Amino acid sequence: MNILITGGCGFVGVNLVKYLSGNDYTITILDNLSTGEKDYIEKLSLEKAPNIIIDDIRNEDAVARAVKGMDTVIHLAAQTSVVDSIENPRESWDINVTGTVNLLEACRQNNVERFVFASSNAVAGEQVPPIDEKMIPQPLSPYGASKLTGEALCSAYYHSFGLKTIALRFANLYGPYSDHKTSVIAKFIEWIKAENPFTVFGDGNQTRDFVHVDDISQAIQLSLESQKSQGEVFQIASGKETSINDLIEILSEAVEKQLQVNYKPGRKGEITRNYSDISKARKMLDFEPKIELKEGLKRLL
Ligand SMILES: NC(=O)c1ccc[n+]([C@@H]2O[C@H](COP(=O)([O-])OP(=O)(O)OC[C@H]3O[C@@H](n4cnc5c(N)ncnc54)[C@H](O)[C@@H]3O)[C@@H](O)[C@H]2O)c1
Repeated sequence: MNILITGGCGFVGVNLVKYLSGNDYTITILDNLSTGEKDYIEKLSLEKAPNIIIDDIRNEDAVARAVKGMDTVIHLAAQTSVVDSIENPRESWDINVTGTVNLLEACRQNNVERFVFASSNAVAGEQVPPIDEKMIPQPLSPYGASKLTGEALCSAYYHSFGLKTIALRFANLYGPYSDHKTSVIAKFIEWIKAENPFTVFGDGNQTRDFVHVDDISQAIQLSLESQKSQGEVFQIASGKETSINDLIEILSEAVEKQLQVNYKPGRKGEITRNYSDISKARKMLDFEPKIELKEGLKRLL
């Protein structure tokens, strides 16, 4: 199977390339290296090293060239920061929507069979958890809106052109190769390394669904083979609710000392409770998260 992975030099991409290595896949990466690093891939020293094309998904010609001859496209490249999308919504749209259209169009014109789209829980917005695929999405940010548009485009390209699309809504991911991320676990690890106290906005009782990046790779690999999930959207998560205070306790146990926390007033617009119902992915994709948070954090540390 010839696979193009956009954004393959980023956090999810590098972990995915590592996870898929050893299988009968020929992998090409398309990445503009805006946040990702070529070094991450080169240092994996894989027997079958992926071909890396350094270009931008906004460049229609470059995308058309990269997609030629592919059986499957896994589309990870994106402007991934909620904060950046609020500062510059047009850029978020250009990368996350126009970039996605460029890829879908190239897939349509080159008879690519399958398209796996990295969506996000951010499409859901404020909801009473657990979040599932049937809730009416209410994105709170341009980032969330751009991902929801990506899901809509995937549905349209499946129903209009038969491209086998699958949209996976990732929860809060953690794992190696995430030093450049501003997500809560990446920040906490950075502060542990620097021996800095943690800063937590609010009382720390807010909850999230933390899922190890290898479980995300598992879901993506299942999507490559699945015969019954075309045109569908799936929540991909641990399915477990963990508070920030619980997370700090788990980390304190792992580093064998009580980590110090400065609590600051909560930020406006922050979601209080968030976790996913993954029963649809369990049923239709045979997805089963394998890495418990305690174990995953230990490995990461
Ligand atoms: N990390 C998470 O917690 C999380 C949660 C939900 C969804 N996602 C989604 O998963 C995907 C991967 O996220 P990540 O955490 O690996 O982010 P990342 O920033 O580590 O990786 C994104 C990659 O895309 C590349 N890229 C960005 N803009 C590009 C462009 N215009 N053209 C070509 N390449 C470009 C970057 O250089 C980088 O290598 C994204 O679509 C993101 O929205 C991530």
